Amino acid sequence: MKGVVLHGGLGTRLRPLTYAGPKQLIPVANKPISQYVVEDLRDSGIKEIAIIVGETFPELVKQHYRDGSHLGVKISYVYQEKPLGIAHAVGLCKDFVGDEDFVVYLGDNLLQRGIKKYVEDFKSSDADAMILLKEVDDPRRFGVAEFDEKGNLVRLVEKPKKPPSKYAVIGIYMFKPIIFDAIATLKPSWRGEYEITDAIQTLIDWGRKVEYRIIDGWWFDTGKKDDVLQVNAVILDERIDRRVEGRIENSRIDGRVMVDRDAEIINSHIRGPAIIGAGAKIIDSYVGPYTSIGNGVYLTNSSIEYSIVMDNAYIEGVNRISDSLIGRNAKILKSDDNKPFIRFSVSDFSEIQL
Ligand code: G1P
Repeated sequence: MKGVVLHGGLGTRLRPLTYAGPKQLIPVANKPISQYVVEDLRDSGIKEIAIIVGETFPELVKQHYRDGSHLGVKISYVYQEKPLGIAHAVGLCKDFVGDEDFVVYLGDNLLQRGIKKYVEDFKSSDADAMILLKEVDDPRRFGVAEFDEKGNLVRLVEKPKKPPSKYAVIGIYMFKPIIFDAIATLKPSWRGEYEITDAIQTLIDWGRKVEYRIIDGWWFDTGKKDDVLQVNAVILDERIDRRVEGRIENSRIDGRVMVDRDAEIINSHIRGPAIIGAGAKIIDSYVGPYTSIGNGVYLTNSSIEYSIVMDNAYIEGVNRISDSLIGRNAKILKSDDNKPFIRFSVSDFSEIQL
């Protein structure tokens, strides 16, 4: 089986971070979201992967994944020039896929328990497609499944105003190459996109076998800041063990904290779950639970919790930072000249809450 990872989209709900890179490269627990996706494919036995990149910094995606060998996979790239929808993107992978079965994985979707068992189920079934579903509180944000009284899947609707069930379609799909024939018949939807839900609906209409599985465990579609912070907290909670490698001086480190090589923690208190990246310096500060501090971050005289601080950010003299996403090389500091005003140099769509 092959894998297709979607890495395009404008990420408007994650501005201004998406002015500096694609949303799928935003780190949670110091690893880009889409790397969890690539590793999940790899751990499910899928080693040949095409990443579909769009207009948003494709070169950064290539820089991170290169040929994939450092992650134990073989990666190639497919360009989607215009964001015309998931089905359009998948359609561009026809040559890559050839006559094999394949998994399409949206690069901003994360599953607690991974996809391995579903990949195995699909391999041993004769279905033309398999989708994964999850019961959610507000299905209107997603593709939604409709069933008949016997529980058979009869219809998929994209972002319905009146959802026919509470079961959202997760952004992970397994297909046989017949899906390309279905995609070729599609027309753009009301939102101007070629919808993957319409392609799967076409298979259903043709009487093809489309199976579903209801997943257990959590699923996140990391489209907004709060989702990213929540995934960060959950991943730190579930996947971080205590491992302290840096230089620790006169400091207290409680619980599951990973301190990377060359980090320095001086006169500080770190309370896990938390991760501190390589070469970070934490001085006279408090880092509270559910915080990821990136490589080369400088944090002094400050306190922070439930936040993500990306590589090389600089924070000095700022207390009680919480629920924050701080981008690479960002600088937040308390001025020491006692001026009766505060100064900003913030990018478009930034948000500051004082
Ligand atoms: C896409 C799909 C939708 C699915 C969702 C999962 O939505 O169109 O059916 O439920 O991903 O993340 P989009 O992210 O394009 O709004």
